[in-house]
Amino acid sequence: MESSKLLIEGGRKIEGEIQIHGAKNSVLPILAATLLCGGANSGKAGISRTCAASTVHNCASLSDAFAAMRILRSLGCDVTHEGSTVTVNSANAEGDIVSDGLMHEMRSSIVFLGAILGRVGRCRLSFPGGCELGPRPIDLHLEALRRLGVKITEDHGILDCTAGARPLNADITLSLPSVGATENIMLYSALGTGETVIRNAAREPEISDLAGYLIKCGAEISGQGTSTLVINGVPELHGCEYFVMPDRIEAATYMGAAAITNGELMLRGVRPSDMYSCMSVFSEMGCGVYPYDDKIFISARKPITAVRTVRTMPYPGFPTDCQPIVMAVLAKSRGTSVIVENIFENRFMAAPELRRMGTNIKAEGKVAVVEGVNKLYGAPVRAYDLRAGAALVVAALGAEGQTQVSNIHYIDRGYESIETALSSVGADIRRI
Ligand code: UD1
Repeated sequence: MESSKLLIEGGRKIEGEIQIHGAKNSVLPILAATLLCGGANSGKAGISRTCAASTVHNCASLSDAFAAMRILRSLGCDVTHEGSTVTVNSANAEGDIVSDGLMHEMRSSIVFLGAILGRVGRCRLSFPGGCELGPRPIDLHLEALRRLGVKITEDHGILDCTAGARPLNADITLSLPSVGATENIMLYSALGTGETVIRNAAREPEISDLAGYLIKCGAEISGQGTSTLVINGVPELHGCEYFVMPDRIEAATYMGAAAITNGELMLRGVRPSDMYSCMSVFSEMGCGVYPYDDKIFISARKPITAVRTVRTMPYPGFPTDCQPIVMAVLAKSRGTSVIVENIFENRFMAAPELRRMGTNIKAEGKVAVVEGVNKLYGAPVRAYDLRAGAALVVAALGAEGQTQVSNIHYIDRGYESIETALSSVGADIRRI
């Protein structure tokens, strides 16, 4: 079935204010974590199961978040969603299987593995396959869970996992600071007994947000924001009310939209301290970038200039998710920029589509050379992944004429109505 398309008439300046939504990469693990509240442990300890409900605010309406809610329901949770608030009551969450269909809807559903195992001690789900960004293995997740005593069998693409005896005492050093593996270890270790140490843990702000939610539920976690996390298992967790952190990638996308149209934008509801590496790249392009408490103002009145090499790195380095956005902006700049992608194997998906719009980008392996051009031209293009799709929208805003972006279900995974946000600040963009 052909999905909707975005029609964009380029050349309008982006000017005004945008309120940033809650972070996709935070809400997914937090929704998975709601499973741990008011579970069987609470019942056994003679404590009522009344504390199984969490109210999670600032949840953007994203197809990935809806997929996470469907997984929770399939496991027995009562989930309601009103506006940007999701309430999850996990009192009856005894399910231990995530269906193949639900696993395929969202690759990051692997984060449910640690939560389900922590909750019911068993989990069966299909092995997440490769995706647009490359093979995306989960060897680090599985190796760490095995270190925590989990028995795992892999049979024809199905993972069958059974928790081992507690206490869990483990000192785990990740060979690379995987976001998903860090989250799965945190989720599995939060309930129970024993101390789990994660070294070379991911330091992304979304990890601290997950820790913040779990701590509010009664978990004992320390070291968030550093590369050593210590989790002391507790016998039970209770639900809580929590506000998801702002989406730094959505904010960077709209900064890109302002930059490529030589516009000016105030981003509200952001956390500038999470975004230094992004802000510095936009400053280097010649934009004025002014962080306030919970706002960032970007002014791009001067022509965009090329930057020195942009290298994607784990946080606090430059985020891989912002790389395609920055590539689109640099494609219409003065000079030549080099981008080195260190996180994912196949993250220059936007480059061939951007070439249809008159850009001059050569991408090979980890390196892309972006020779800036004066003008971009509208063209029919196709989103091949979430951020590559957003990059095409950004390029289209700065192009002459009309661009038709197809495959936009990818964009809907991570942006709540991108066309509403952009048209509110002057873009000519509509969904057909
Ligand atoms: C998360 C984010 C994604 C972001 C990425 C890197 C979510 C839902 N998604 O993805 O938007 O781009 O972090 O910041 O939060 N790796 C292995 N073995 C493993 C796990 C990972 O080799 O077991 C490799 C991956 O192939 C990749 C790198 O490590 O090359 C980073 O992956 P990881 O940090 O795990 O990313 P995700 O959690 O999948």
